[in-house]
Amino acid sequence: MKQKLPLSLAKKTDEYIENIFLPQDDDLDFAIAESKRNNLPPIQITRVFGRILYLFAKSHQPQNILELGTLGGYSTLCLAKALQKNGKIITIEHNEEYAAVARTNFTNAKLEKQIDLRIGEAIHILKQLQNEIHKPFDFVFIDANKEENIEYYKSILPLSRPGTIIICDNVLRNGGVLQEKPEKEYYAKLQEFNLWLAKNPKLESTIIPWTIPMTGRDYLDGVSISIVK
Ligand code: DHB
Ligand code: MG
Repeated sequence: MKQKLPLSLAKKTDEYIENIFLPQDDDLDFAIAESKRNNLPPIQITRVFGRILYLFAKSHQPQNILELGTLGGYSTLCLAKALQKNGKIITIEHNEEYAAVARTNFTNAKLEKQIDLRIGEAIHILKQLQNEIHKPFDFVFIDANKEENIEYYKSILPLSRPGTIIICDNVLRNGGVLQEKPEKEYYAKLQEFNLWLAKNPKLESTIIPWTIPMTGRDYLDGVSISIVK
């Protein structure tokens, strides 16, 4: 018989928080199941972080949200549920197959009118938005190509206002950004990004470190959080 691995402390802790704080949400359950059924990579934010993102966003009473990196739309749904009445979220995904799954999940949640899903490279679509958007975004979540975070920020800043919150996922990578000689090219890019963020005179920022439970191991990652000055 296959032996079951004991749950890690991070996994037990996540389950503890899920059990006592996370309300039943059929739309989110459906999105996870549909993403799995379509073999999307299981790299969406955790349910616990989805709840944090929802609460962060909601505290900001957002009318306009921007997301980079839709995947199957799990985080998009968390953010869409935090919108004010008549609010809108634009979410960008470069992979058409992922976007198709996300669309199914948005329709299932009856949130397709609030969610504007754009398919293409984020940098390209951000350039289009410069000409199209007349109101700045209140809240931005970046979870896309880890090598392009600085470029994303440079395009997002003109679309923001003083007080806009920008959150960026995966900025620590289990010690990857602490390495003196980074094993992977994108760790070096993230080091560069974190320093750029820390020194940017237009932003006040920090990183929230946290442990993601993964199958058989835990992974220490973090999200950066910035407020536009
Ligand atoms: C990966 C991407 C993510 O956004 C994440 O949260 C975890 C892993 C990845 O590409 O491996
Ligand atoms: Mg991520």
